[in-house]
Amino acid sequence: MNEKEIIDAENRLMANVFAKKPVVLTKGKGALVWDVNGKEYLDCTSSYGVALLGHAHPKIAEAVCRQAEKLISCHAGFYNDVRVEFLQKLTSITPKGLDKAFLSNSGAESVECAIKLARKFMGKPEIIAVMGGFHGKTMGALSATWDKKYREPFLPLVPEFKHVPPDNLEKMREAISEKTAAVLVEPVRGEGGVRVPPDGFHKGLRELCDEKGVLLIYDEVQTSFGRTGKLFCCEHWGVVPDVMCLAKPFAGGLPIGITVAKENIMSSLKVGEHSTTFSGSPLVCAAGCAAIDVLVEEKLAERAAVLGKYFKDQLTQLQAKYRVVKEVRGLGLMLGMELRYDVLNVILKALDNGVLVLDAGRTVLRFLPPLVIEKVQIDRALSVLDKVLEEEENTRSSGASVN
Ligand SMILES: Cc1ncc(COP(=O)(O)O)c(C=O)c1O
Repeated sequence: MNEKEIIDAENRLMANVFAKKPVVLTKGKGALVWDVNGKEYLDCTSSYGVALLGHAHPKIAEAVCRQAEKLISCHAGFYNDVRVEFLQKLTSITPKGLDKAFLSNSGAESVECAIKLARKFMGKPEIIAVMGGFHGKTMGALSATWDKKYREPFLPLVPEFKHVPPDNLEKMREAISEKTAAVLVEPVRGEGGVRVPPDGFHKGLRELCDEKGVLLIYDEVQTSFGRTGKLFCCEHWGVVPDVMCLAKPFAGGLPIGITVAKENIMSSLKVGEHSTTFSGSPLVCAAGCAAIDVLVEEKLAERAAVLGKYFKDQLTQLQAKYRVVKEVRGLGLMLGMELRYDVLNVILKALDNGVLVLDAGRTVLRFLPPLVIEKVQIDRALSVLDKVLEEEENTRSSGASVN
């Protein structure tokens, strides 16, 4: 099939719920991907943060092939050697005390489990999330997600969810009530515009939750696995939550969700109260073992810290050059550049110029490259962005106004 035939068929046969770019990707290697016509792109999206180890990492490919020939599926109603190996590797890197996990298939599912866990352990219904937060689109996770364009078509959602202004300890204190089971936040808000809370916020939040006797749940679906320059983002502030939601890159690109919690909290869920057919499948766990090995052996968190600083400094220089750039922010290789207008045109022009970039809301460009990206590749992304921003600024200054 050629490009047009593939696009037409996918549009016809698949639910039209994704804002698609007109590109058919068929191959990847490291931070590069190629389309069906052989055109090369630098991937600053990592498939929304999944391909954090780069595309087609040989150790992931090898682990998947080896396990596929041995045992692909094994319901968690039976024990499995590779599942245990994965759980041991996982809990050897999770923050101290978070050592019992439920394995699922996606970020939203990891949040669903955290919500049920909080209600069960605490015996109370209320979950407090923040305005601008994103936790996925299944009904429970959606009830914690803020954006009304995701929520409104599906009302009523799960009751007893409350949203407070982000990064605001006083508002959080006022919101916590007798009914509150848990506070659920992303340590750095991704979809909400790559927003890093001020220093002191997370420490204060931990203290507040302890004082009020409510659980602290971190949704690290986007911020973990070295992405922000630490294995887990909460390490930047030395804070350990009671429950943590993980997903995207943990199985080297295969679908996975993980809810990891303190032992006594996770043990409040009894046999039959939560499950999924694919929980901890050997194939996914084999990929997960290889992914954790690569993360640790290739020191990718440290690499994200160093390269992220370089990338952010260079983006800040572009901010100084172009009036259309309002702010640059982020941690490690999770970076955002806020423009003074809609970013869609910039994303499409970058795509034409061979660079894939994400949005994070209407006005923020989001960079989530694989952590194996090379410095010269970052320079390539920057030079394309420089060119595109210059064109945009010229077009805007000769016509539309910049607010
Ligand atoms: C912080 C956060 N939580 C949850 C999710 C939902 O994950 P999934 O799309 O795998 O359901 C996402 C997805 O981007 C996310 O960024």
